[in-house]
Amino acid sequence: MEQTQNQAGTKQESFNHQTLRLEHVKKYYGNHGNITKAVDGISLHVDQGEFVAVMGASGSGKTTLLNCIAAIDSVTSGHIFVSGQDITAIRERNLADFRRENLGFIFQDFNLLDTLTIGENISMAQIISGASPKVIDRRVADIAGKLGISGILGKFPYEVSGGQKQRCACARAHPCPEGRKDLHRDTQRQEDEKRIFH
Ligand SMILES: Nc1ncnc2c1ncn2[C@@H]1O[C@H](COP(=O)(O)OP(=O)(O)O)[C@@H](O)[C@H]1O
Ligand SMILES: [Mg+2]
Repeated sequence: MEQTQNQAGTKQESFNHQTLRLEHVKKYYGNHGNITKAVDGISLHVDQGEFVAVMGASGSGKTTLLNCIAAIDSVTSGHIFVSGQDITAIRERNLADFRRENLGFIFQDFNLLDTLTIGENISMAQIISGASPKVIDRRVADIAGKLGISGILGKFPYEVSGGQKQRCACARAHPCPEGRKDLHRDTQRQEDEKRIFH
């Protein structure tokens, strides 16, 4: 991993404002005779509201870094804090819950489930999280409207365009926390959406 670029300018030092913090993160593949140092000691801060682009040549470790930040892959060493919580310390069996409630991830190749409709793909994580059908329907209608895919919710991935698949992947990437904290996060999320989609 050679370079990261922070496009949002100044950083605040207050830990509380850091949505993401990486400390000396390393991810090595292979064993003693044949080690690939995909990520080799990355440290960075990202504050709330910042947008960051990671750039580098093919094979330089971008996907590996993002997979570690998204808790899809484990680090070899170092620490990754998401809203102050060290995700490298979360037990394997709790990781899926953490990802679903806190992280949104849009895959380069969509990763939609072919046997589910666009609407079902978007709502699946929310169903797993235990949200009520009424809440799920409202959220799906809301985000589908914002992304311009309301008309294709009943179609299957093979029946829609690449751009529509990507919008479905964006809609599905919404974290889906439950309970009281939902109210605050929904408000924050709607503010973020306004900035991104309008
Ligand atoms: N699962 C893996 N096992 C072994 N090596 C891997 C694995 N995934 C990626 N690599 C290697 O790690 C390096 C970084 O890969 P990757 O993170 O996919 O780069 P990028 O996304 O920047 O193209 C490459 O040399 C790649 O071959
Ligand atoms: Mg990649």
